[in-house]
Amino acid sequence: MTEILQEKSVCLQDKETSVNFIQQLPKVELHLHIEGTLEPEMMFALAERNGVTLPYNSEEEVRAAYQFSNLQSFLDIYYQGANVLLHEQDFYDLTWAYLERCHQDNVIHTEIFFDPQTHTERGVPFEVVINGIVRALDDAKDKFGISSGIIMCFLRHLDEASAFETLDQALPFKHHIVGVGLDSSELGHPPEKFRRVFEKARQEGFIAVAHAGEEGPVSNIYDSLELLKVSRIDHGVRCVDDEELVTSLAQSRMPLTVCPLSNIKLKVFDKMAQHNIVDLLRKGLCVTINSDDPAYFGGYMTDNFLAVDHCHHLSREELAQFTLNAIEASFISEEQKQQLVDRLDAYMAG
Ligand code: HPA
Ligand code: ZN
Repeated sequence: MTEILQEKSVCLQDKETSVNFIQQLPKVELHLHIEGTLEPEMMFALAERNGVTLPYNSEEEVRAAYQFSNLQSFLDIYYQGANVLLHEQDFYDLTWAYLERCHQDNVIHTEIFFDPQTHTERGVPFEVVINGIVRALDDAKDKFGISSGIIMCFLRHLDEASAFETLDQALPFKHHIVGVGLDSSELGHPPEKFRRVFEKARQEGFIAVAHAGEEGPVSNIYDSLELLKVSRIDHGVRCVDDEELVTSLAQSRMPLTVCPLSNIKLKVFDKMAQHNIVDLLRKGLCVTINSDDPAYFGGYMTDNFLAVDHCHHLSREELAQFTLNAIEASFISEEQKQQLVDRLDAYMAG
């Protein structure tokens, strides 16, 4: 073998080892919209099962429509896709398919978002949605040993009254829901709009999180922290526009649930090589890797880790740090956190 060929084959072996390492690495997901796991195949199957007409002729046509120019262009298509979800079994099937992917990707704990208003606005009762999701999460605990939490998000393009109504609908299901979040169109809908709803939600015992600093300005990160009193920022990558904020996020270990492939698809960054997640990790921020809406953005957890590693060349310890950060940022007991850390340690030692 010539030297160059030898070098190439060593390189390929290295690549294969790192793909295996990432694939098998225990992972924790903290930013995942269950409606964003609706794959075109399931969209068509549910449309047929429920007699819903789709504005597409084929799965290929659906995939071809997934060319987004910004957050809003994605949201329009994402809400349209959710129209096929009508019955409890639909929400079960959707959630179960995601959990099978978690099992493949060695996701050991996941905290998932759902958007009640996307469904209640179409006449689907709150309990139909939550019961389907909870049943799948319970089955995944039994069958795969995956633990989980549920966070319900308010749609920020709707008004405060609708958010209050949603909070009321959630109260009988409080034992199933760990927190409240804020998603949908960030521009034009600042955290201030939901200050009173979040105050009530926190009084009711919900932990708070909010999407902020994805497309919107740094002020949305400050206001989510100060007005909504969030325990994590979803996305938050625009924090780099304010050096003081970066320093304070590092000092407070306030978690940012970052979604690398999502950020590229929605043009928050032009290229993965320009993404700031590794820079933030090395500055000591509690950043985590997540898939956001994997059916729309081209990948689940392993794909997101691989994409970051491919462009930023991380050490194994750095890759594992993303999981450690996510364990630290998760909404589970200290005892449960320690169990997850032990699983990660066993993997790293093995
Ligand atoms: N941002 C805001 N709202 C969303 C997103 C997102 O990335 N995904 C689903 N709803
Ligand atoms: Zn999101």
